[in-house]
Amino acid sequence: MLLKERIVIDDFGDKKFKIRLVESDNNTEAAFTHFLHNHKNGVSKLYKPAAIEHVKKLIRYRDSDQLASNEAAEEALQHLIFEETDIAFPAPKIPKFKFIDLFAGIGGFRLAFQNLGGKCVYTSEWDKYSKQTYRANFGEVPFGDITKPETKSFIPDGFDVLCAGFPCQSFSIAGKRGGFEDTRGTLFFDVAEIIKKKQPKAFFLENVKGLRSHDKGRTLETILNTLRNDLEYYVPEPQIINAKEFGVPQNRERIFIVGFRKDLGITDFEYPKSTDKSKVLEDILEKEEVSVKYYLSTTYVDTLRNHKARHASKGNGFGYEIIPNNGTANAVVCGGMGRERNLILDNRLTNFNPVTNITGEVNREGIRKMTPREWARLQGFPENFKIVVSDAQAYKQFGNSVAVPAIQATGKELIKLITERC
Ligand SMILES: C[S@@+](CC[C@H](N)C(=O)[O-])C[C@H]1O[C@@H](n2cnc3c(N)ncnc32)[C@H](O)[C@@H]1O
Repeated sequence: MLLKERIVIDDFGDKKFKIRLVESDNNTEAAFTHFLHNHKNGVSKLYKPAAIEHVKKLIRYRDSDQLASNEAAEEALQHLIFEETDIAFPAPKIPKFKFIDLFAGIGGFRLAFQNLGGKCVYTSEWDKYSKQTYRANFGEVPFGDITKPETKSFIPDGFDVLCAGFPCQSFSIAGKRGGFEDTRGTLFFDVAEIIKKKQPKAFFLENVKGLRSHDKGRTLETILNTLRNDLEYYVPEPQIINAKEFGVPQNRERIFIVGFRKDLGITDFEYPKSTDKSKVLEDILEKEEVSVKYYLSTTYVDTLRNHKARHASKGNGFGYEIIPNNGTANAVVCGGMGRERNLILDNRLTNFNPVTNITGEVNREGIRKMTPREWARLQGFPENFKIVVSDAQAYKQFGNSVAVPAIQATGKELIKLITERC
C-alpha cells in the first residue's frame, strides 16, 4: 500500500512542507527542516536520523493512533522533499559556497551571504520568536543552544565560511596568557571551538563597537590572540564599519573581524570602502499614514521632555531624540531608549481626535515612533522580509540584527578572496 494512503498527510498544516507546526523541545524540528533544505547536497545525511524522529512525531496511521514505523517516516520524509515550497528567501539554485549562521537572530548574515551566492547549511539561534521569523523567511528552523554538545553535533563538515554575531562577554584572564583556554565558559569559546574543529576557509564575526574597549581592551586582545595564535588563522586588524556608509540612513558602528585559514595563503584583506552615503530618513519612512498606535501620548511626550530636561541640567545628553526627515537615525537597539532615540515628526494622522494612545490623548505635534518595517529598512532588510511577530518582538529582533548591506559589502571582499584561491 502506498504511504499516502496509510498516513494522514493531509493533516500536515504548514503550507511549506505540509506538516503541523509543533514546538520541538529538542533539535529534531531543526534537523527536519535542515534535512529538507539540504537534500541536494551531501549534508542532509547528518540530519536524517533526527529528521525521521521528527516525522514520527507528526504522523499517525489513519485508522489508529499508532506511531509510524521508521520506514513509513522515511518514506514520508522523501515525499515531503518534493512538496511545493514557498520560501521568501530561498538559497541560490547553484550555490558558489557553503556557510553556517551562528547566533543567527533573524538571519541578517544569511540574507547577505545568500545574496553573494552562498548556501546556508546550518543555523543556530535559541530565541523562540527569532526562530519564528527565521522560519517564516527561510523555511528553516534554527538549532538551539550552541553551547550544548548535541546542538554542535549537527554542524556539518566542509562548509566554507562561519558567520557569527556573538554576544560580548568578559574573560577571566588575570595573570594568564589570554588565549583559547582562558575563554572557556563564554560564547566566544564555542565559536572558537567550532572554528578549530571544522577549519572553515574563513570566518566573519560581528560585535558591538564597545568590544574594542571592553575590559580595558583585554577582551578583544584575547579574541585576536586565540584566533591568530591558537587557531592559526590570518586575522587582519578588525575594522569599525558604519552602516550609514552602505546605503541605509542609520548611524550604526559595529566591529567586524574576519579571518582566513593559513593554508589559503591570504596575507592581505581590505575592508570595503563606503558604497553609498546618500540615504536619509525620508527614504525609508512609510509612504502611507501609519496606525495611531505609533504616535506618542501627550503624557508620554511630557514625561520624555521632563526627563531630558533633568538630564540636560546634570550635563548629560540622555533622552529622546526627534530625527529630522533629512537626517540619519541613531542605531536601532533592542533595549533601553531604543525607540525613543529614533522618534520622528509625522503629522499626517488625520484622526487625531478623539483617539487615545495607551496612556492618554495622542500628541498634536505628530511625534511618533518608527514602525517595525521602518526599522527593517534601516537595517537594509528587503520589503518582502516577513514580520510575523508582535511589534515588541520585531523591534527587539531588528535592533539585535545587523545592517545587511554592510555585512554584504564585507562578505563580498571575503568571498572574492576565498574563491580566487580555491
Ligand atoms: C546580537 S544577536 C545576533 C543577531 C543576528 N546577527 C541577526 O542578524 O539577527 C545575538 C543572538 O544570539 C542568540 N543567542 C545568544 N546565546 C545563544 C546560545 N547560547 N545559543 C544560540 N543562540 C544564542 C540571541 O538570542 C540573539 O538572537
